[in-house]
Amino acid sequence: MNLTLKIWRQKDASSKGQMVDYNVTDISEHMSFLEMMDVLNEQLIDVGEEPVVFDHDCREGICGMCSMYINGQAHGPDRAITTCQLHMRTFKDGDTITIEPFRAAAFPVIKDLVVDRSAFERIQQAGGYISVNTSGNTQDANAIPISKYAADEAMDAATCIGCGACVATCKNSSAMLFVGAKVSQYALLPQGQIEAADRVRNMVEQMDLEGFGNCTNTGACEVECPKGISLDNIARMNRELIKASV
Ligand code: SF4
Ligand code: FES
Repeated sequence: MNLTLKIWRQKDASSKGQMVDYNVTDISEHMSFLEMMDVLNEQLIDVGEEPVVFDHDCREGICGMCSMYINGQAHGPDRAITTCQLHMRTFKDGDTITIEPFRAAAFPVIKDLVVDRSAFERIQQAGGYISVNTSGNTQDANAIPISKYAADEAMDAATCIGCGACVATCKNSSAMLFVGAKVSQYALLPQGQIEAADRVRNMVEQMDLEGFGNCTNTGACEVECPKGISLDNIARMNRELIKASV
């Protein structure tokens, strides 16, 4: 396939960015989207131009790093996958593909397609953990009975990879699907109960401090989430917050 790419180029956080056109040739339909980007970068390096900077790590849908907005959709046109799992067979010869960074005030662009998502780390640090006594008298987690329903729901919430597609997709740049998943993961399990009230209060407070918007129940986040995180997690977070407030 021969393709035209329109890519957001931005030198650094303080520079003004712009869309730049590139042509790539001989792209196999079996390549992943990131492999296609690698081909472009090799082309650019060969002619002495600066390669396009983009985030990636695992390239198998686990780490949540490959945050790109492709043809107006977070992680591109396919459902329930990350950019690194998107294959070029989704596109056809002669296509023009628009590639931008995730856009949100709380995710400032660092360079080209890389955004600063450390706001998510600070929300996690505010309460996305449990404190366990590791003195040697710790109760074995497997000895605590947990219903199948709670285990399944907690596991589903825990599949959130912190990619930020929910924020980039939301018209309000809300992080409630992410925070809802992180709160739910512990709220459903006995191990999460001791710090439950502080956790939800602190995480929601940090979310607001970071400048994320509110949820207005549009549901775009759930549609674009590569891990299928359900809006039920936002409802659970709201219930947890009300419980913590009384
Ligand atoms: S909720 Fe989904 S879209 Fe949002 S950070 Fe988690 S995995 Fe990504
Ligand atoms: S590179 Fe890890 S999820 Fe895409």
